[in-house]
Amino acid sequence: MIADQAEALRELVAEDRAQQAPTHADRSAPTSPRATTLAVTSGKGGVGKTSISVNLAVQLSQMGRDVILLDADLGTANADVICNINPQKNLSHVVAGRCSLEDALVDAPGGFRMIAGASGLSQMAALSEFERARLMDQMRSLEEQADLILIDTGAGVGPNVLGFLVAADQILVVTTPEPTAITDAYAVIKTVSRHDNELDIRLLVNMVRDEREARAVYDRITGVCRRFLNVSPRYAGHILSDPRVPYAVRRRQPFVLEHPTSPASVCIHRLAHRIDRHASTPRDHGLLRRMAAWLVG
Ligand SMILES: Nc1ncnc2c1ncn2[C@@H]1O[C@H](COP(=O)(O)OP(=O)(O)OP(=O)(O)O)[C@@H](O)[C@H]1O
Ligand SMILES: [Mg+2]
Repeated sequence: MIADQAEALRELVAEDRAQQAPTHADRSAPTSPRATTLAVTSGKGGVGKTSISVNLAVQLSQMGRDVILLDADLGTANADVICNINPQKNLSHVVAGRCSLEDALVDAPGGFRMIAGASGLSQMAALSEFERARLMDQMRSLEEQADLILIDTGAGVGPNVLGFLVAADQILVVTTPEPTAITDAYAVIKTVSRHDNELDIRLLVNMVRDEREARAVYDRITGVCRRFLNVSPRYAGHILSDPRVPYAVRRRQPFVLEHPTSPASVCIHRLAHRIDRHASTPRDHGLLRRMAAWLVG
């Protein structure tokens, strides 16, 4: 029943796609069977999702991976601002059916490609079922064109964000040691695991003094998750609090390029290597089933 509905929407979307302009030919050769998708999310805003996504994308590109960063923030997107680029097309054009995701790809500093998000568009707050289906269909074709797709979601789990999360191979929930960030991270895990309790959820603790502080935050959150949700998010790692991070943002450069040996950059290197090992084994529960979870959600 779920699959039927997804199939019907996919057919609708396929017709719509057939009417769109042809996409770039130069990058269309598949690099691997399909990309691993990693959604970077959080409950509370401002915990570092965009900084981490952009710098992970740079680092993984420098390690030889073909990386696409999708800024899926539909309200306050800013990955393009951090990278000092000004793309002509962004996710709002894709959602409106004016171009494909592939057409919206632009080169970003450090060697990755990006699809910019949409800012300040209140109508983006809730996508229609058709728009969601079209976006998911486009995601499918994007999966054939990279090794890794990083999705920087907006904060909190609205219906749009949830779709990206349930469709990803891995969900990186970012929190900081602040109590509000911790309770909101738990709320995200609760919402997504209610949809699917087999999702690969990992916790990344940002802006910490040291690893010990990060482990304490992880233990608190995961303890409550085990007790009340019967899920055990894994520990993804930590990023040290580092004044070079906001400094690089002000200079509109990824900090791993500006300050490659700073404490936060070293943490990003470590995280990228972990992700790179994991990326060679994408979860494959069937994209259609994963899409359907969103389409009917
Ligand atoms: N490890 C860090 N050390 C110091 N400052 C950091 C660190 N990580 C992020 N920041 C700072 O925190 C602020 C918020 O970061 P960022 O915009 O990446 O968060 P976000 O989760 O994407 O926010 P939003 O929810 O609004 O999308 C920025 O000023 C950034 O420079
Ligand atoms: Mg952000």
